[in-house]
Amino acid sequence: MIKFGHRGAMGYEPENTLISFQKAIELNVDAVELDVYVCKTGELVVIHDDKVNRTTNGTGYVAEKTLEELRLLDAGKGEKIPTLQEVFDLIDKRVKVNIELKGVGTAEPVAQMIQDYVTNKSWTKDHFMVSSFNHHELKKFNKLNPEIKIGALISGIPISYAEFAEKIGAFSINLDIDFINQEFVDDAHQRGLKVYVWTVNDHDDIARMKALGVDGMFSNFPDRL
Ligand code: G3P
Ligand code: CA
Repeated sequence: MIKFGHRGAMGYEPENTLISFQKAIELNVDAVELDVYVCKTGELVVIHDDKVNRTTNGTGYVAEKTLEELRLLDAGKGEKIPTLQEVFDLIDKRVKVNIELKGVGTAEPVAQMIQDYVTNKSWTKDHFMVSSFNHHELKKFNKLNPEIKIGALISGIPISYAEFAEKIGAFSINLDIDFINQEFVDDAHQRGLKVYVWTVNDHDDIARMKALGVDGMFSNFPDRL
């Protein structure tokens, strides 16, 4: 059972910041989860929303701001919005990383950055997982770097259960806890797919997910898993 620290360990530190990822590592996660967008100057930045409004003291779209402008913002406790590169360098192969492609146009730069870390910084392909609700972006990523595991995010139960994920060559289905049921878990497993569930914070939910036989959980409090 893989323990994912959700947006680092956002139950303890500001989400998607370096201190949040450091905290998750200290809590012995197997992997950290994070969200990425491309900003105006082309760098990959780690933030959950398309706007900076909720998580920083600024306003406006991430895609319309330069990295310099983004770096002036406070993402909580004086932390800055990190670049993906900064997060990789902090993690430094100590745990795995699940990169969620949020913005359009993230597949290509993420594939390039992963390739750079595998080729030049002795990371292995198994250190990485890439997920998205946008299955087109995910497929694009998979074509660029087919060796990296992809996770199809979903919030619902399709008529054909896990078939959609099999079709795009996913390794896992990353499913919303609000929709999970035994039929879905069993169907995914029969197709050879892993089931990772988000966001699992309460002790009773953790026990319920374990009873369903899931393969991993994302938690804001990963020490509870
Ligand atoms: O990857 C699991 C989860 O992070 C997906 O939803 O909205 O928290 O990015 P969200
Ligand atoms: Ca996410």
